[in-house]
Amino acid sequence: MLKLRKLLHFKRSNLLYLVISLGILLWCVSVGSAFTQAFAAKPSHTLAQSQSIGPLGPNRSTVEAGKDIYLSTCSGCHIAIPPEVLPTETWQELLENPQKHYGTSVPNMIRLSQVLMWDYLKSNSRPILLKDAPVPYYIEQSQYFKILHPRVEFDEPISTKNCIVCHPGVKDFNYRTLTAEWEDAP
Ligand code: HEC
Ligand code: HEC
Repeated sequence: MLKLRKLLHFKRSNLLYLVISLGILLWCVSVGSAFTQAFAAKPSHTLAQSQSIGPLGPNRSTVEAGKDIYLSTCSGCHIAIPPEVLPTETWQELLENPQKHYGTSVPNMIRLSQVLMWDYLKSNSRPILLKDAPVPYYIEQSQYFKILHPRVEFDEPISTKNCIVCHPGVKDFNYRTLTAEWEDAP
């Protein structure tokens, strides 16, 4: 009798251990998957869905933070491109595919900075003009670039390397100031 009781007791505590370890295992799995979801390198369609950080849409502080991150992440290899020269769809594609960036890859693209940069870029660009038109990957193909340059007829190819020819403030991210030649032109 005593023996049987001991045996039963042993089994019961064993069951308790099993339940506890199963609970811990489940917790680990759920925390793990929450982390992968939050920090997945490729957010696929989630950027468009993620409205923004705050419940009321992008607010000034997240947009400002996004601008700072944009300037530091996106100006290492070429100048920081002003968001308004390309449609929102282009920025979304570029943010969602940092590993496929014109034959290279953009480093330091963690989920939080992607979301903040998205707030900034979305707030400072407009959706593509013609529905179903292909998303432009080069400034040269962008309608908005042309709209922002009513007086300019470009004869040289448009590239991030020659904005400075007419915009002396590019390194300060200033596209308002023009060279004297344009400033004085009618
Ligand atoms: C590791 C270097 C690198 C970083 C960092 C980088 N880019 Fe680029 N980017 C390139 C290269 C290379 C090209 C292609 C340039 C070319 O073909 O003239 C390019 C081209 C572009 C173009 C097209 C410009 C044009 O000529 O019309 C855009 C827009 C652009 N990048 C946006 C971004 C954004 C947004 C970020 C930050 C998320 C970023 N880039 C960060 C390397 C980089
Ligand atoms: C040949 C000279 C020239 C070149 C090159 C040039 N721009 Fe401009 N840009 C101008 C002029 C002039 C204006 C003012 C609008 C006008 O008169 O057409 C302007 C206006 C702008 C504006 C609007 C500024 C505002 O007041 O808000 C932006 C943004 C801009 N340019 C970005 C760029 C970028 C980015 C590049 C390089 C890819 C570039 N520009 C290359 C001459 C130039």
